[in-house]
Parts: sequence; C-alpha cells; structure tokens
Amino acid sequence: MSADHVSLATAPRPLIGPHAGEAATVAAVRRRPARRPGRVRSLGWAILGPAALVLGACAGNAPQDTLEPEGPIARQINNLINPVFIVAGVVFVIVQFLVVYFVVRYRHRPDRPEPVQVHGNTKMEIAWTAAPAAILLVIAFPTIATIFELAADPAPDAVHVTVVARQFWWEYRYDDYDVVTANELVIPTDRDIAISLESIDVIHSFWVPKLAGKTDVVPGRVNHMRLYASEPGRYQGQCTEYCGLSHANMRLVAVAKTPADFDAWVANQRGDAPEPAEGTPAAAGKALFAANCTACHTIAGVSDGTIGPNLTTFATRERFAGAIFENTPENLRRWIPNAPGVKPGVVMPAFDTLDEEQVDNIIAYLGTLR
Ligand code: CUA
Repeated sequence: MSADHVSLATAPRPLIGPHAGEAATVAAVRRRPARRPGRVRSLGWAILGPAALVLGACAGNAPQDTLEPEGPIARQINNLINPVFIVAGVVFVIVQFLVVYFVVRYRHRPDRPEPVQVHGNTKMEIAWTAAPAAILLVIAFPTIATIFELAADPAPDAVHVTVVARQFWWEYRYDDYDVVTANELVIPTDRDIAISLESIDVIHSFWVPKLAGKTDVVPGRVNHMRLYASEPGRYQGQCTEYCGLSHANMRLVAVAKTPADFDAWVANQRGDAPEPAEGTPAAAGKALFAANCTACHTIAGVSDGTIGPNLTTFATRERFAGAIFENTPENLRRWIPNAPGVKPGVVMPAFDTLDEEQVDNIIAYLGTLR
C-alpha cells in the first residue's frame, strides 16, 4: 500500500463539523438512522424553493411581458421563442435526469469496482456530436427566417420617427410632421413605424417588449428598427443598456392611437404654444420660465433650447422625466426645485431658489401647454 492510500479507519478525526470527535469511518456514517425528520424537511424545501421561483414568474399585471405580444413584430419573435424554448426544455430535462441518474447509479462505494470506462468510444462520440448538431440545424431554419422577416424594410406608408436617446430620457422627432416630443412615443395603430435610433451621449437600448425586440442606440451611428401596434393602448418600455446613474429611470411609453386619433394628435402638436391670459398665475409662470428655463427647453414661439425635452405640448403627456413620474402638480412640485434629488444624475439642476408660489406659477404655465 502506497503512502497516499490512507485507510478511512485510521484517518484523523475532524476537529469541527457534525462528526467532530467521532471516528469518521464508513461504519460510523452507516450507523446513523436512514430516515431522519431533517430529510423530510429538506425534501419540503427542495419542492417549495423551486415552486416559489416558478410561481414568482406569474404576474397579473406584467406590462413589459415579451411573452404577451400585442403586434405582429413582437408575435414573430414570440413564435420563435416558444418552439426553441420547448426544444431547449426537453434537452434540459433529459440531460439533468441523466446526470442525476448516473451520479446515483455509479456513486462510489467502498466495495464497488471502478465502472467500465468509455473514453474514446467512437460510436458515442459521433452520437453526441451529431445529435446536438441536428437539433441546432432544425432550430436554425426558423431562426434565420425570423431574422430576415424582422429586418424587412418598412412599408412605404410607414411613419418615420427619429428616436434620440439621452441621459436619461427619449426625444422623438417626427420630421415628416414637424413635431418633436419626449418620452411618450405616440404612434398610429395598423401602420409600420420606421424608427431611426440615435444617441447623443452613451450607448442606450430601445425596447418596447410587447411591440418589438430591443435595439441598441449607439453614438455615432444610426440603427433602424420597426414597431407595429395592432391595438390602441399604452405600451411600456425602457432603456435596456446600462447608461449611467439613472439607467433604471430611463423609461418610455409607446402610445398607440387609432389613425384618426393620431392625426388629431399630430395637428395639436404643431404650431406655437398658446399664450396664457394676462395677470394669471400661468402668465407669471411664463415670465419665470423665460428667466430660468429657456437655455435648455424649447417651447414653440417662446424658446429654442435643445438640452432638455421640448415642452411645447407638455400637458398632453401623462408622464415626464424619462416617463418615471405621472404628470401631476404634486410630482412637478417635487421635480422643479430638486430634479437631481428625485432622479440621480439628471442634467436639470435643482431650482431651489424659487419659492413655492413661483414653482406653482411655473406649474400653472406648464398646465396650459396642450
Ligand atoms: Cu439609457 Cu440605460
């Protein structure tokens, strides 16, 4: 017997652990009763743990569920995910079953001889190379077909929108309509939306899960994608490429309207902002806006700043600041004096020198922008 074949019976006793002080012999391990209450408990956890994980995936309200598509583009992706997932699931279950089976069936026992070794068995090598190759080949056909379908050119009557990503909000330019808006992407139903993606700072990624896949937005190049909504509705989305402190606060909503409602929206977005009546809080707010906000914000007919969102029709949007806040006076009261405090890393400074009345006047003015 060589020096490295130390008998279990003569092995040193463990100093810590459940068998500290007990001779760690196989006989001692075998003496323990086969069924302990602890084993039932671990079995319970083994079932409960995965069950909790699986049930955690169930949600009544899942606005960004890519598995519940609301348009043909998202549906094409979903139609590819499902069969591939089934194939992958079957492979996963078979492989896991075999791993567990072999671990148990051929586990080491002191009196058991070494099992037959199959290393270099040509038939098995060919089998487990050919089977995955065949599976991948089968999956490749629908995958490549879907890639080409998704990359198809937009229809000739498509609405063109340039999406400009910024830290940490989205600007939408409808050059054909002379409209610029932010965070809420308004689109007509039943029509291709041809999107050009640009970034003015870092890499972002544009994603509305129920309408289409995600596409990166890279500074210095223009990426293209299509959106298509079959039903009117508000479809939530977000930036999906880490882009800085408020990456998680860079959300968006695609608002799909019927063609008639979309045309009405476009007509309303154009032209100069309305003039508030003299002597009203809104008129005072407009003067404060002119003194504090025009370097960054555009309001058609008032200012032409391009650092922050165009506010010409601000009151028509349901959300603001990367679509994280509902457009309410209360939220604007928190936002204007302390934007960096409620959205870290934001470019807008804290206007904390304005008193409450001044902030309320600005809010009154913003309320007229519709
Ligand atoms: Cu923009 Cu993450």
